[in-house]
This record gives sequence, C-alpha cells and structure tokens, in this order.
Amino acid sequence: MDRQHFYAMMNGSGEFDYELYLNTQALFSCQKNFEAFSNRDELQFQIVHQVEELWMKLIAYTLLDIDDYLQQENTNRVVTLFRRVHLTLRLMTEQLGLLETMSPKEYQEIRLQLGHGSGQESPGFRVLLKMPHPIWESFQKYYLDNHELSVEKIYNSEYAHSDAYVVAESLAEFDELFQKFRYHHLQLIHRSIGLGAKSLKGRSVELLENGLRVQFFPELWEIRNQMTDQWGAQYGVKRDSIGDH
Ligand code: HEM
Repeated sequence: MDRQHFYAMMNGSGEFDYELYLNTQALFSCQKNFEAFSNRDELQFQIVHQVEELWMKLIAYTLLDIDDYLQQENTNRVVTLFRRVHLTLRLMTEQLGLLETMSPKEYQEIRLQLGHGSGQESPGFRVLLKMPHPIWESFQKYYLDNHELSVEKIYNSEYAHSDAYVVAESLAEFDELFQKFRYHHLQLIHRSIGLGAKSLKGRSVELLENGLRVQFFPELWEIRNQMTDQWGAQYGVKRDSIGDH
C-alpha cells in the first residue's frame, strides 16, 4: 500500500464540521510526524499515553462535579458520576495492556526519545492525587457529621444501606480501582523494562511499590478490619469447624 497516500487520509482534510468540532487537525498534530517516529511502535506509545492523559482530565473534571453534588447531598448524581469515573479508571487500566504488544527491545529504542520525561510528571496523575482528600472532607461533613453519623454506624451498628453507605462504597471502589491501575502499571514495567532497573530519573522502579500501599480513604478499609475483629470475637480468634457441631 502507498503509505504516503494513507498517511494523508489519516490526517483528514480538517474541513468537515465533524473535524472542526473535534479539532482533528490539532488532535493529530499532537503525535509526531509519521517520518519522525523512532520505530513502528512509537505511534501507539504516544497515543496510549495521550489517551490516558485525556481520561485523567475527564476523571478530574468529574470529581469536581462530584464534590459539588456531595455538598448538595445529591446522591443520585454522585453515584452516577462515580460510575463514569470507575468505568474510566477501568479503561485506563485495560489500555495499559496495549503497551505489552511492544517488544522490550523496541521499547528501549522509544525510551531513548523520552529525555528526562517520567510518568511522575503526568499532569493528570498529579491532579488526581490531590483530589481524594477534599472529596473525603465533603463526604464527612455532609453525609456523616451533619447527620451525626460515623463510618462505623453506616457500615455496622446503624447499617441500613443508606445514602451515606452507598456513597462510601463508591469512594472505596475509586480507591480500589486506582490501586488496580497502579498494580497493572507495575506489571507493565516488569514486562517491558524489568523491575530491578533504574528509571529515567535514576531511581529504582521499586519505589513505585510504595504507591501500591497508598489508600485514599483508609477509614473505609479499617472499618472492615474492625468489624471482622469485633464479629469474630464471638467465636474467638480460631473458629471451630462447622463439622464439630
Ligand atoms: C512501557 C510503558 C511504561 C513504562 C516502562 C513505565 C515506566 C515507569 C517508571 C519506571 C516509573 C517510575 C517513576 C520514574 O520514572 O522515576 C513510572 C511512573 C509512572 N508512570 Fe509509567 N511507564 C509506562 C507507561 C505508563 C503509562 C501508559 C502511563 C499512563 C498514565 C504511566 C503513568 C505513570 C505514572 C502516573 C507514574 C508515576 C507514578 C507514581 O508517582 O506513583 N506510565 N512509569
């Protein structure tokens, strides 16, 4: 096939309303020119990272809306928007697998193009790390404190599958999906450059394992431990087998 012909077609004319509304000319200029790629995997490398940044922009924007609706105690809106956030996080994680279609050697060629660039500089990731704290404060003020509730009450002693409980589970799911993204990203590094290698910043990628231990909403995980200890105390730490009765 005539590559130049198809390259031109991929960029489109930019004249149709569809192209104008989506700003496809600008969008396609965000990738290197076809002839500038270091190899044939680099287009997918750039696109996956760019799409991930766009998904993080959408998540951050949606979390701002969620915070507004938390303050209005508009649970239906909060839950629907969290569904959008959760689906987007799942997409982000799933998409990492695309990069596993690239051989370790071809990635090394691309890696030479990255300068000092590192995922730690990702604007999307950096803003997302800042948002869970204010989201938790809004949840605590409007769903718990204002109703004289606590995490313990909504999960255990006054459990009624209430709005506060449903919103808390949406928060827990966000935390869990973020962890899953981090875990799959670590697996991707394992697959492409190895886990023992130094990063472009000169630090060991094993530092990323600390990220796996980060919990945005530790209270929501601790309540599970407390409940298991408390309920388990009824039969002691070691349970009798069902067959003993
Ligand atoms: C072959 C693909 C990839 C490799 C080999 C890779 C490698 C790495 C390494 C070594 C780090 C450690 C930080 C440092 O550079 O010092 C890192 C951090 C990071 N990477 Fe990747 N990465 C890849 C793809 C991606 C993709 C597709 C994303 C999409 C968002 C991403 C997002 C991040 C983020 C957000 C961090 C910072 C994590 C934190 O601070 O907890 N990476 N990456």
